[in-house]
Amino acid sequence: MVIDTHDWQAFAKRIAACKAQDALDALEHELFGRKAGILTVALKDVGALDPDARRTQAALLNAAKRTLTDAIEAKRKELLSPSQDALASGDSIDITMELPRKERGHLHLIPEFIRSVEEVFGRMGFDVWKGPEIESEDMNFNLLNIPAEHPARDAQDTFWVESSKLKADSSKLVLRTHTSPVQIRYMQSHKPPFRAIFPGKVYRKDADATHSPMFHQFEGLMIGKDINLAHMKSVMITAIRELIDPKAEFRFRTGYFPFVEPGLEVDMRWMGDDAQSREGKWLEIVGCGLVHPNVLENCKIDSKEWQGFAFGFGIERMIMLRNRIPDLRSFYEGDLRFLSQF
Ligand code: DAH
Repeated sequence: MVIDTHDWQAFAKRIAACKAQDALDALEHELFGRKAGILTVALKDVGALDPDARRTQAALLNAAKRTLTDAIEAKRKELLSPSQDALASGDSIDITMELPRKERGHLHLIPEFIRSVEEVFGRMGFDVWKGPEIESEDMNFNLLNIPAEHPARDAQDTFWVESSKLKADSSKLVLRTHTSPVQIRYMQSHKPPFRAIFPGKVYRKDADATHSPMFHQFEGLMIGKDINLAHMKSVMITAIRELIDPKAEFRFRTGYFPFVEPGLEVDMRWMGDDAQSREGKWLEIVGCGLVHPNVLENCKIDSKEWQGFAFGFGIERMIMLRNRIPDLRSFYEGDLRFLSQF
């Protein structure tokens, strides 16, 4: 009987104890080296034995070869992937550590409010449309039934735009004083029935706590065969409750605007307390009315067949009422202590 005199167990232990790749490579070479590897040589020697002994010895050696190759492969994998211990001591992450807070920007409260206006009116079926901020005198005044002597045209209120191009043209240019000219543009390019809103910037020579030379409005228009004051009132009430406050206290008052007949104004009661003690006072937020037949006819819409209402909201004033902001000028100062509250 042949006895394998090599201690393969001892080799298996040495493999298991390997701490580095090159030590493992050296051990592999010691066992399986092509010329002098211990196992390579032992397998070669088998050929010289008699048949019986050869069979037994070959079986023993092949078993040892398999075990040791497997052990080397397993060890190699282990050395390539970092152990938990190594991770814990070297590459550790402290997930409880406080990191500097990331500063995030957001929309200014005016465009953010305009988005909610578009959403609330969108739900009532209103389209959104925009017009230019530099307008002709015709669009801003004449076609809206505002006669030349109307006080709204007073040089005190309107910014006139100088342009050499206009010398030949009779219509002068203005920075639009309201969003109402967009009504005209819309009616000239669409066929009734329709309903739409027109948000944007407007300009007037005015500056105090509730007026600014540039501010925002949104105009609205709804024209159909039988649109009346009751429809208008319901749209005004929905807009005020949804955009300012569900418990808003407001009142309708008659008002005069050349482009509507009858004309109404809506005031809302100021709810915030402030230094100027506006508490309990009324602030005008919207002008509205049934579109004047002259205006419809100016846009080639038959006023015997079509009628409807128009309105113009002051956006800053709505936000002032909603958020109890006492001074309109805070919107434009760019002070982050103010802006980041919204
Ligand atoms: N354009 C008016 C203004 O700026 C507001 C206004 C009043 C608009 C009545 C309208 C309206 O459409 O019907 O003061």
